[in-house]
Amino acid sequence: MNNKEAEKEIKKLREDINYYNHMYYVENNPVISDYEFDFLLKKLEKLESEFPELIVPESPTQRVGGKPIDSFTAVEHKTPMLSLDNTYDSDDLKEFDKKVKKNVGEVEYVVEPKIDGIGVALIYENGIFIRGITRGDGMNGDDITSNLKTIHSIPLILRGDLLKNAEFRGEVYMSLKGFKKLNKMREKKDETVFANPRNAAAGSVRQLDPRVVESRPLDIFVYFVSNSDKDIHTHEKSIEVIKKVGFRVNPFIKKLENIEQVIKYCNKLEKIRNSIDYEIDGAVIKVNSIKKQKQFGETSKHPRWAISYKFAAKQSTTSLKNIDIQVGRMGTLTPVAILEPVEIGGVTVSRATLHNFDELRRKDIRIGDNVLIERSGDVIPQVVKSIIEKRTGKEKRKNIPKKCPVCGSEVVRKEKEVAVRCPNNYCSARLKWRIKYYASRDAMDIDHLGESTIDKLLEKDLINNVADLYFLSKDDILTLDGFKDKSAQNLIESIENSKKQDLSRLIYGLGILHVGKYAAQILANQYQSIDELAKAPVEQLKEIDGLGDKTAEAICTFFATEENVNLIKRLKDIGVETKEGKKKKMLLQDKKFIFTGGLSNISRPDATDLVKKMGGIVSSSIGKSIDYVVVGHKPGSKFKKAEKLGLRIINEKEFIKLLSTKQ
Ligand code: IVH
Repeated sequence: MNNKEAEKEIKKLREDINYYNHMYYVENNPVISDYEFDFLLKKLEKLESEFPELIVPESPTQRVGGKPIDSFTAVEHKTPMLSLDNTYDSDDLKEFDKKVKKNVGEVEYVVEPKIDGIGVALIYENGIFIRGITRGDGMNGDDITSNLKTIHSIPLILRGDLLKNAEFRGEVYMSLKGFKKLNKMREKKDETVFANPRNAAAGSVRQLDPRVVESRPLDIFVYFVSNSDKDIHTHEKSIEVIKKVGFRVNPFIKKLENIEQVIKYCNKLEKIRNSIDYEIDGAVIKVNSIKKQKQFGETSKHPRWAISYKFAAKQSTTSLKNIDIQVGRMGTLTPVAILEPVEIGGVTVSRATLHNFDELRRKDIRIGDNVLIERSGDVIPQVVKSIIEKRTGKEKRKNIPKKCPVCGSEVVRKEKEVAVRCPNNYCSARLKWRIKYYASRDAMDIDHLGESTIDKLLEKDLINNVADLYFLSKDDILTLDGFKDKSAQNLIESIENSKKQDLSRLIYGLGILHVGKYAAQILANQYQSIDELAKAPVEQLKEIDGLGDKTAEAICTFFATEENVNLIKRLKDIGVETKEGKKKKMLLQDKKFIFTGGLSNISRPDATDLVKKMGGIVSSSIGKSIDYVVVGHKPGSKFKKAEKLGLRIINEKEFIKLLSTKQ
């Protein structure tokens, strides 16, 4: 291919990729599969590597192009980024309306949700995204272009010919789903969690390494365009234009005729607040006519033509009566704030998480403090900070306990680990979690055995480990509050039925450190019974694909513990199935695979081995009976044939995902 041909091909690829990207990230309406998308992107990457002179910063291959930097560069805003005047009261909105009318006459309004994220400015020249800036102090912000480029709903090139030179403003935010997922991951890695989605979004766009930003689930709603080369007469029209050139605009933006309708709609937005997947902290009311906006003007701080109507805060202050310690399934000690009950956004809060002792010390939170509590979305309430000004001197620090508050064992804290743990496997706090885990849906799936029933069983000393469940009689259950003949019978039957669960579920349910669903499945395939697994030497376990060294060691430790040996003996004696059934069904049982092209994260022999271990078959010739065609880079002729035959084509990522899917 010569340079001219490459240029043409690259142009076409970029246009296609931009279109598919837009459909996926902005319209939420994907028109091709992830695989096909990756395929096009790879093709473009390859061509660009052959013709590097054709690479431009706005190419879709350059979304995560930037290198880590030492610090951000400050840039001046062309026009200051003002903030909004606030009100919490609908009467103030009527006042606002009066003032507007007095100054500019009758108006229409546009009402939109106030997104709780961080404001940014996006500058486009000749249709190309050239700079993204934080709000900063309103006059100067930080250049965060590389970070913003990683957000796929920000077009690198504006769509169509409507506008070429303009500054857009919008709010970068993190969805609640993304926020929870991110925090869960951070918790697993013993990293401090973000207190709310706004902090998570703010912390993310201020990362110095764009690759980290790319891994954060950020998105943006754009609500403002200025300095544009097109005359736009109303805010409503601006929103239309913003959408047309390729941005996401909030779906709840609405034009209204008068202040009564505005107030009604603000109340409606407050109601939908709890049903959407991102945080809004109010509504913004804007005069629709841009001519009238200009006529009414602005103060040095905020425009006169707009106001924000803030919803009831999801924050409140109260006093911290005590700090309790909770002991988790793996023995992790978590400090929990016991609060003077306080209402936040319609919910009474009396407990809030303090995450871990490092955080407690970092925030210097003391018993007796007045504390600021925040509830974001349906996330567990958090203690944001202590109100230090209100201290009397009587407040007390909570030190890391030396002993487990439940069983009295001496706690341990491994070097470099945030977690403080109770090492006692028999600690009753841990026992409760273990039973809950054993009965959970992904493990032995025991219906009717919820947390409160487990609590009652433990209280009455009817169980001391999971094996005891199988020794419970209907009469035992009937002694528990709330149980009648039928419900007791149901529980007994559920427990009895669980004896026949697959070996993989039993292995998972035992709660061995690091053994999740996937590892349990591999182990059940490798070893046909619990006894075989218990005898497996650590070296052998380490050899198994898909298990790490840590997992192998944890398995050996588990089976070397006398308590666990006894437990398994009792489970066997009472008739719990501890062998893999005859008609064992593995994850990929009898599924036929064929590979074409190179894989990047796993070698071909390893991939073949894994498929076989999970019951699948790897074929070398293509035909209709193939269930999955795994396509890597530079695929061979099998790929074309597979397409012709209409076979199921998956890429490497999807293949790896398939291996870890639950049946
Ligand atoms: S309009 C001059 N609209 O709230 C116009 N702002 O306290 C000013 N915000 O700095 C912005 N959602 O970061 C506008 N729909 C919305 C908004 C919004 C969130 C943020 C924005 C602004 C802050 C003002």
